[in-house]
Amino acid sequence: MKATFRLTATLATAATVLAQNVTIPAADGSLPEGGSNGCTAGYYPGIDTVLFTVPYTYQQVMSIVGNYTNLTWSGSPNNSVTTNNSQALETNVWTPGTARTYDVAGAHVIETITEYSKPINGPYVEVHTLAPLSIPTANVSFYSDFDGQVWKPICDGKATWSNFTITFCATNATTAQQVLHMLHLTDAVTVGAFLGGQNFTSCSSLTGNGTASPGAYGNGSTSSPTSAPMPYTGGAEEKGASVVLVAMLAAIVLVLA
Ligand SMILES: *[C@@H]1O[C@H](CO)[C@@H](O)[C@H](O)[C@H]1NC(C)=O
Ligand SMILES: *[C@@H]1O[C@H](CO)[C@@H](O)[C@H](O)[C@H]1NC(C)=O
Ligand SMILES: *[C@@H]1O[C@H](CO)[C@@H](O)[C@H](O)[C@H]1NC(C)=O
Ligand SMILES: *[C@@H]1O[C@H](CO)[C@@H](O)[C@H](O)[C@H]1NC(C)=O
Ligand SMILES: *[C@@H]1O[C@H](CO)[C@@H](O)[C@H](O)[C@H]1NC(C)=O
Ligand SMILES: *[C@@H]1O[C@H](CO)[C@@H](O)[C@H](O)[C@H]1NC(C)=O
Ligand SMILES: *[C@@H]1O[C@H](CO)[C@@H](O)[C@H](O)[C@H]1NC(C)=O
Ligand SMILES: *[C@@H]1O[C@H](CO)[C@@H](O)[C@H](O)[C@H]1NC(C)=O
Ligand SMILES: *[C@@H]1O[C@H](CO)[C@@H](O)[C@H](O)[C@H]1NC(C)=O
Ligand SMILES: *[C@@H]1O[C@H](CO)[C@@H](O)[C@H](O)[C@H]1NC(C)=O
Ligand SMILES: *[C@@H]1O[C@H](CO)[C@@H](O)[C@H](O)[C@H]1NC(C)=O
Repeated sequence: MKATFRLTATLATAATVLAQNVTIPAADGSLPEGGSNGCTAGYYPGIDTVLFTVPYTYQQVMSIVGNYTNLTWSGSPNNSVTTNNSQALETNVWTPGTARTYDVAGAHVIETITEYSKPINGPYVEVHTLAPLSIPTANVSFYSDFDGQVWKPICDGKATWSNFTITFCATNATTAQQVLHMLHLTDAVTVGAFLGGQNFTSCSSLTGNGTASPGAYGNGSTSSPTSAPMPYTGGAEEKGASVVLVAMLAAIVLVLA
């Protein structure tokens, strides 16, 4: 995986030439006009969803993800994300039209909110657009008109379920889907890691305040397949792919580092 990324990096400029009418890095948050396939010339449509549950409360999750310009849980250090809504930095009330800008994995990212809702008891809904960008190490460029996440309390509030779904246009939809899946899965896993690193298994294994009971995860001496992170729904698909994904995750972390 790592070797593949290195190899493709040398040919990254090929994608830039092909997509010559799309300016990358983007100067503003606007998206190209779609063609007959819904995407601009040289780009192809795709979609990816990551469903993931963490054994922590909605309020705990909001303390990590509830500030649009704090992306420490997504690999961007403190104060590395800028916004054109300085008022929201104080109030933490984010509104459609707000853009955030940052650089990660060699990409210049501009994300503009289209939908934002953060009620005290959930669900949290945050949808933004993604201006065209390139990930040089993966030889892919993409943009999105819908990059959304939902965080919803489950298990009587003891756990929080998430849905990261993105519909995108990419120079290679297969590659983009793999990269986006790894990024979003890493994000979701990191939220859990920041809150204590327990894995969700079932509602009944959780105690009163969202903290996993000691017996629920074994005593560390053995590793059982059922201790892998599992989504709340659509379990079979994500569980089946989890071994591959953990390996891919390691690869993308190397790329991002
Ligand atoms: C890089 O991406 C472009 C556009 O998808 C493709 O034509 C080219 O073959 C890719 N290069 C490699 C080495 O995969
Ligand atoms: C912030 O940037 C976005 C994307 O460029 C733009 O659509 C929006 O109008 C800007 N908002 C303000 C308040 O400047
Ligand atoms: C770029 O734009 C020009 C017109 O501005 C158009 O004729 C051409 O087909 C476009 N090329 C691509 C690759 O989109
Ligand atoms: C960003 O969020 C993290 C929790 O994920 C917190 O520890 C950190 O203090 C926050 N940074 C700023 C600048 O608010
Ligand atoms: C949100 O995060 C930004 C930086 O990441 C920080 O400057 C700002 O104070 C935070 N807002 C709140 C309300 O914590
Ligand atoms: C991020 O900023 C917050 C306060 O703004 C600080 O408490 C925390 O230690 C910082 N984290 C890192 C990793 O610098
Ligand atoms: C996840 O979110 C997408 C986009 O909103 C939605 O189409 C899909 O049905 C959701 N999946 C689940 C399992 O709720
Ligand atoms: C898209 O990328 C995959 C690897 O992710 C590669 O096998 C395939 O050849 C690429 N397709 C094009 C058209 O470049
Ligand atoms: C509740 O959570 C805190 C950590 O947030 C933990 O220290 C405490 O033991 C928990 N209480 C119970 C009854 O699980
Ligand atoms: C915990 O460890 C003991 C021995 O140290 C072992 O017999 C037991 O099966 C372990 N329990 C789990 C759930 O791994
Ligand atoms: C959670 O699951 C991951 C992946 O399967 C594993 O590496 C990790 O050790 C687990 N953590 C706990 C606390 O069981």
